[in-house]
Amino acid sequence: MAKKKVIKKSWAEPFKIKVVEPIKMTSRAHREKAAEEAGYNTFLLKSEDVYIDLLTDSGTNAMSDYQWAGMMLGDEAYAGSKNFYYLWDNVKKYYGMPYFVPTHQGRAAEHMISQILIRKGDYVPGNMYFTTTRLHQELAGATFVDVIIDQAHDPANEHPFKGNIDLKKLDKLVKKVGSKKIAYVSMAGPVNMAGGQPFSMKNLIEVHDYCKENKIKLWFDATRACENAFFIKEREKGYKEKSIAAILKEMCSYFDGLWVSAKKDLMVNIGGFLATRNKKVFEEARNMVVVYEGLHTYGGLAGRDMEAMARGIEEMVEYDNVRMRVKQVEYCGNELEKYGIPFVRPIGGHAIFLDAKKILSHLQQNQFPAQTLAAEIYIDSGVRGMERGIVSAGRDPETGDHRYPKLELVRLTFPRRVYTQAHIDVMVESIASVYEYRKKIKGLKMVYEPKYLRFFQGRFERL
Ligand code: F0G
Repeated sequence: MAKKKVIKKSWAEPFKIKVVEPIKMTSRAHREKAAEEAGYNTFLLKSEDVYIDLLTDSGTNAMSDYQWAGMMLGDEAYAGSKNFYYLWDNVKKYYGMPYFVPTHQGRAAEHMISQILIRKGDYVPGNMYFTTTRLHQELAGATFVDVIIDQAHDPANEHPFKGNIDLKKLDKLVKKVGSKKIAYVSMAGPVNMAGGQPFSMKNLIEVHDYCKENKIKLWFDATRACENAFFIKEREKGYKEKSIAAILKEMCSYFDGLWVSAKKDLMVNIGGFLATRNKKVFEEARNMVVVYEGLHTYGGLAGRDMEAMARGIEEMVEYDNVRMRVKQVEYCGNELEKYGIPFVRPIGGHAIFLDAKKILSHLQQNQFPAQTLAAEIYIDSGVRGMERGIVSAGRDPETGDHRYPKLELVRLTFPRRVYTQAHIDVMVESIASVYEYRKKIKGLKMVYEPKYLRFFQGRFERL
């Protein structure tokens, strides 16, 4: 028998498992009932009815023993806890921003920055929208304008930096409305709704230079910034030898400020913050946080949460941690590909985005193909994903009609340090089996629609 030649290219988790949480196995009949009761909305399922939970990577991560040990060191003083100062030091050290305000999660920081920087009638250009980000911008009176490159709207396009901003689109908007009407440019990386796609440092520098020239502020949704840094290291010339920490610091150096949902990169279960180099914005945010969140030295968090965040910052920049995270998603994509299942290319940083428009091509977009596919995958195996299509896109505030996004996707998002390769194998087989009977799947109709962020609480019935 021919011997296999050794090539050392495999990666493995840079940790061993110390504590486990049992998960419940359920029958198909049980899941049929659970899905119906949840109005075919995976957000409304009970967690205990879920087998492999890929709803989100937000707050669902496994903390390390170092973080858990830190939880016992929570200084639960109302004001000035030592955990707050440790966290602030790490924000300065790793993000390079001198000023910092903690919040209970990312959207609270989005709320504050939108209220502080936006005046009614302003515009906020961004590299595709994120649901909560855009809503807070709109609630503050702005119109969001998507200025991401066209390739980002094409799931099959293999552009390595689909999160890039199209400077021509940005310039067209600035010329049309005037730079004074631009509250700020909102840049996220990687871009969640585009499929976890990064921007390049080259593009960021061009956007920075353009904004500087036109006196426009540039703000960063740095929620998954370490994944963006990883892609820059892997894909962009000149960054191969640089550390994740150095790339993160360079990225942040081009922004006026940033907000973070700490529930992602920082591998904690709750937390967020706003950080900036602008003292005036900082002072406003620090004042505003006491109205909505709590004193500016805890922002809605317990001391122990801030300790876990501070320690999470140190772990998130470790190369092996980011690599295992991104490579696990890549492994899943490569396995799905073997069955010919269409998903957004290139494989993103935090999730696989199944192309529901292609998979359920017999359904109209207003029959909610991605919502339908997410429900069907759950019923098949108990794997929970999430709709990222017409339901998430919501309605146009002007016309009241559905927005019809080009991307109609089911997101399978990987919590950090939670599932193994064997879980992924089981999940891939389930999706492949749904893919086999896809032509028999019927769409949904919406029977309840809440006013804000309807994807969270909307209810559906089978057609
Ligand atoms: N920005 C991005 C890019 C996000 O992905 C999220 C949350 C937020 C901001 C808001 O932060 O949830 O802490 O208030 N994304 C989660 C997700 C909900 O599942 O993608 P939050």
